[in-house]
Amino acid sequence: MWLGTQCVNAQGHLEIGSCDAVALAEQFGTPLYVLDEEALRARCREYRATFAALKQDVTIIYAGKAALNRAICQIIAEEGLELDVASGGELYTALQAGFPRERIHLHGVYKTDDELRMALEAGIGAIVLDNFEEIARLRALAHAHNRTVPVLIRIAPEVEADTHPLIRTGQRDSKFGFHWLNGDALLATEQVLNAPELHLKGFHCHIGSQISDLSAFQAAAHAMVAFAAAVRQQLGYTAPLLNLGGGLAARYTPDDQLPSIQAYAETLVQALRTACQQHNFPEPALAVEPGRSLIAEAGITLYRVGAVKRVPHDHPHLPREYLIVDGGISDNPRPQLYSARYTARHVSRASAPHDRPYRIMGKHCETDPIIDCALLPETRAGDLIAILTTGAYAYSMSSNYNRYPRPAMVAVRAGTARLIVVRETYEDVIRHDQ
Ligand SMILES: Cc1ncc(COP(=O)(O)O)c(C=O)c1O
Repeated sequence: MWLGTQCVNAQGHLEIGSCDAVALAEQFGTPLYVLDEEALRARCREYRATFAALKQDVTIIYAGKAALNRAICQIIAEEGLELDVASGGELYTALQAGFPRERIHLHGVYKTDDELRMALEAGIGAIVLDNFEEIARLRALAHAHNRTVPVLIRIAPEVEADTHPLIRTGQRDSKFGFHWLNGDALLATEQVLNAPELHLKGFHCHIGSQISDLSAFQAAAHAMVAFAAAVRQQLGYTAPLLNLGGGLAARYTPDDQLPSIQAYAETLVQALRTACQQHNFPEPALAVEPGRSLIAEAGITLYRVGAVKRVPHDHPHLPREYLIVDGGISDNPRPQLYSARYTARHVSRASAPHDRPYRIMGKHCETDPIIDCALLPETRAGDLIAILTTGAYAYSMSSNYNRYPRPAMVAVRAGTARLIVVRETYEDVIRHDQ
């Protein structure tokens, strides 16, 4: 399974962005996050071109929670996408990177007054409202600042997407957004329409992440148009924009069956059109907010193997040979949080047959498998391995567990490696201790 610009070079080493991964590990150390800049840019262009060919007024918004730093903001801005930020920290990063403010959207199930004020003062493109308390607080802040704030209202479309429960967000018992069934969504819309401080741009939903069943997106589009039509009928407001969120799956293992961006885009646009016809509703502009499907496959993590152990257990499905690597739960908690699956490649013997089963374990003070059964060539202490598809929700979810400094991140492109996040030091680890 090779993704983006990954390939095997003449030395038999894994190459990414035309950079030799062995050389990257030597130069920058391990664990190392490597971002394939060309792959990320290509994906941005594919998203834009695919949707543009199907519908005129589509906005592609990168969901920065997947991975965000100043360099990524700049790449996203250069590729002409908008940016979804979900916290004051993400917003601050975007502003520091000089991301065009009018292309920033602020999300979150609990935005503090400080976060709302920051967004308001920066004059960002839209704030996506999530609850009644937030409507009241934003109104008060906007009033105090004498501003009219562009907003969207997040709706829970009651679509149960087939994905891990912890990353499912649009179902009936979801904590996100306003529900239609209990009347909240309509009431929220009424409140916003009656608030002179708020300017309603449309409605938003997001049903979850790592979704490969397109019918869930179809159902969400239908639910949102049905809601917009009900609002039109009852409140006389015609939403000019529907933001249907992100959620398209990325490839983590060769068995993953994924829809293409083309199939995803056709499904969304078609569902929107059909639903608009059914409800006799004028077709609104469309926005989508992909995170994972834009950046996950562009990232890999390089680890160095520190020890190889034969473990005398009797689990029928687990290999007996364990590789202990120099990272794990602190740089990527997804295996522990979601039993996430990954694919490994041997970095210096990338073209050798990968047929020997290993359990790859992190080095932290708990059982932190990275891959339960990875296929690799025979691997020894000192060897480098790459975990593929770590571009999304990995570095962004990292921690200092066991007081390990976070890894560095380099962006590679056309044979050049650019350090975009410096490796933390022990000084960084104690920086905030008093
Ligand atoms: C509001 C919102 N939009 C977009 C996304 C991006 O989702 P994904 O990375 O699956 O595309 C998320 C992530 O959960 C989200 O919460």
